Amino acid sequence: MSSEPSSGSGTPFPPGFDPAAESAEKTLCFRGFWAWFVLILLIVIFVAAIMWLLRKCIQGPIYRKANRIDGKVVIVTGCNTGIGKETALELAKRGARVYMACRDPGRCEATRLEIMKSSQNQQLFNRTLDLGSLQSVRNFVERFKAEETRLDLLINNAGVMACPRSLTADGFEQQIGVNHLGHFLLTNLLLDRLKQSAPSRIVVVSSAAHLFGRINRDDLMSEKKYGKFFGAYSQSKLANILFTRKLSAMLKDTGVTVNCCHPGVVRTELNRHFAGPNWMKSALQVVSLYLFKTPKAGAQTTLKLALDPQLEGSTGGYYSDCIRWPLVPWARSTDTADWLWRESEKLVGLPPSSSSSPPTESPGRNGTSNGNGSSGPGAMQSVDTVVVNRS
Ligand SMILES: NC(=O)c1ccc[n+]([C@@H]2O[C@H](COP(=O)([O-])OP(=O)(O)OC[C@H]3O[C@@H](n4cnc5c(N)ncnc54)[C@H](OP(=O)(O)O)[C@@H]3O)[C@@H](O)[C@H]2O)c1
Repeated sequence: MSSEPSSGSGTPFPPGFDPAAESAEKTLCFRGFWAWFVLILLIVIFVAAIMWLLRKCIQGPIYRKANRIDGKVVIVTGCNTGIGKETALELAKRGARVYMACRDPGRCEATRLEIMKSSQNQQLFNRTLDLGSLQSVRNFVERFKAEETRLDLLINNAGVMACPRSLTADGFEQQIGVNHLGHFLLTNLLLDRLKQSAPSRIVVVSSAAHLFGRINRDDLMSEKKYGKFFGAYSQSKLANILFTRKLSAMLKDTGVTVNCCHPGVVRTELNRHFAGPNWMKSALQVVSLYLFKTPKAGAQTTLKLALDPQLEGSTGGYYSDCIRWPLVPWARSTDTADWLWRESEKLVGLPPSSSSSPPTESPGRNGTSNGNGSSGPGAMQSVDTVVVNRS
């Protein structure tokens, strides 16, 4: 006896059941599932591709030329972390003798060991430089000149951003003091070595923040009014560009070039003074993970300016993402650049003649006497404390 339901009309299906329709419906369901699956997959792939492209665009171009700089003497300021660290690492990989000019000897040493390990280059030197102290700058230069007769590449990278108003050891507002005046003195004191080593290069790490900046002739130290970012930081980064342009004109025909750059928006410790609420800090962390450049990507324009043989002889330029960009009128003003140069000379205690010839130092604002780059063994007595065994 059959257990199949019977319609009574000889077919094995209940009354009203249409197997063809059922099969078509099942096929449709099946198709519907796959259609949704494929659609969602396509959307995911599309979004991922857009995000990948966006991230790739944000990271910018990489300096890919393999040229080496074996034995070239390089100074990088502020290279214990961030963009400076990646810059020093790449230069070390390419064979340079890298002087790491940092304010914290302990942090510098940790980074030096790390870079030595990954670059397999032993020619890295931990040297103390606090750009917020003119005496420290002079001590650094004095010691450097006692150790090296040449300087092929100076990278003015160190910087501080949007800190609460504070003063450097010499009484300058911190951001203009560190970002501009410290580097101004450093560069001027090293110009003779750079000229002797020509063709040589100076790279100044500025920022797109200069677009918001104005050189406040009546209040350069922001004593009357202090704006952390749009005021003092932007002013200091504009000063970097005006300095670059003035110096490049002064160094015409010397074989020393000077260019500046904006590294991009980079995930580093630069925002350490950000004082927003905790949720905002966390949000910034998350956003920066995806939308900011990595420090390595942030170092690429600096590296191009430092290394690219094609840029031999190019000077006075402002670069971002490895491309030279035109400047806004207030960053091109020769009048402002001249004023800033004269003012900076006065503030750091350099004689006016330093603008055209290798500088000799004069007493600083705080009355301290200067080393004048003396290179004899006696000069070593007054240098900062970190001593690195170079053998
Ligand atoms: N990150 C960005 O998005 C961005 C954008 C535009 C421009 N920039 C510029 O890029 C440069 C590098 O910044 P970063 O992003 O790599 O920042 P970072 O990670 O904070 O590194 C800054 C470096 O500068 C050093 N420094 C600060 N004050 C100093 C002083 N008084 N003397 C000597 N060294 C000092 C710091 O030393 P400590 O570690 O001891 O403090 C550190 O090594 C800066 O000039 C900055 O203005 C950065």
